[in-house]
Amino acid sequence: MGDYTNMSPYYDVIMTSGYYDYAEIVDDLSSYGPFSSILEIGCGTGLILEELGRRATGAQIKGIDLTQAMLVQAQERLSPFPQISVEEQNVVELKLPRSYQAAFSYGGVWYFVLDGDKEPTMVSHISADAPNREGLKKLAAHIEPGGMLLLGTQGPHFDYEKPVSNGMTYAQKIEPSDHGFTKHYYLIDDGRKVMDQTIDYRTYSWAQTLDLLGALGFTYQPREGARKFLAFKKA
Ligand SMILES: C[S@@+](CC[C@H](N)C(=O)[O-])C[C@H]1O[C@@H](n2cnc3c(N)ncnc32)[C@H](O)[C@@H]1O
Repeated sequence: MGDYTNMSPYYDVIMTSGYYDYAEIVDDLSSYGPFSSILEIGCGTGLILEELGRRATGAQIKGIDLTQAMLVQAQERLSPFPQISVEEQNVVELKLPRSYQAAFSYGGVWYFVLDGDKEPTMVSHISADAPNREGLKKLAAHIEPGGMLLLGTQGPHFDYEKPVSNGMTYAQKIEPSDHGFTKHYYLIDDGRKVMDQTIDYRTYSWAQTLDLLGALGFTYQPREGARKFLAFKKA
C-alpha cells in the first residue's frame, strides 16, 4: 500500500523538475493559517516541510510516512529545523501523543483530482475501503476541534514521458481498475529502465468523500480561485 521505496532515490529529481511547485503549495497552505501546530500525512522526503520550515512561522510541525527510504532523506533535509520532526507511521494505524491545529496531505495518502467543472474525485494511496475509513478516523482523532484538514489537488492523470533535470526521462502510465486506477511510474536512462514503481489507487466520488468526512465531523470550506488544497473544518 503506497510504498515509495523504488522511487525514493529519484523522488526529488522527478518532483523538482516541474512535477510539483513547492513554494506555491506552501503559499496556499499558509493562506489557511496561521497554525500553531501542523501534521503532514505522507511527508515523503520532506520537500514541503522544508519550505514550511524556511518560513519560520513558529509552528510545531510533524511529518509521518510509511516509506523508510523517503524518511531518511527527510530527516537529513530537515535537520536545520528543530521545530520539525518526522517519523515512520502508516496513517491507518496513526498514533501520536498530541493532536494538531491543521493536518494536510499533498500528493500524500489522500488527494483530489480537479478536472474542469466536474466534481472533485478523492484519490487514495490505500487501495481497500476499510483501511481508508480507519486511516481517516485515526487522522480525525489527531486534529483539534475547530482545526483544519487540507488535502492537496492535482489535475487529471494521463500517460506521458518527459525529461527531468538529471538527463533521464520520467514516464507514467495510467490504467483504470474496478476501484480506481493503477499508476505505473518509470525512470529511463539511455533507454534502460532504472526505476519502476506501481501504485494501486482507490478513488471516491465527491458525494462519497463528503459522507466519509462528514461522518468524522468535517465540513467542506469552499473557496474561490486557484486551489492547491481543498479544506475541511473539524467541528
Ligand atoms: C507522492 S509522495 C508525496 C510526498 C510529499 N508530500 C511531497 O509532496 O513531496 C506520497 C507519499 O505518501 C506516502 N504514503 C503512502 N501511503 C501511506 C500511508 N498509508 N501512510 C503513510 N504514508 C503513506 C508514501 O510513502 C510517499 O512518501
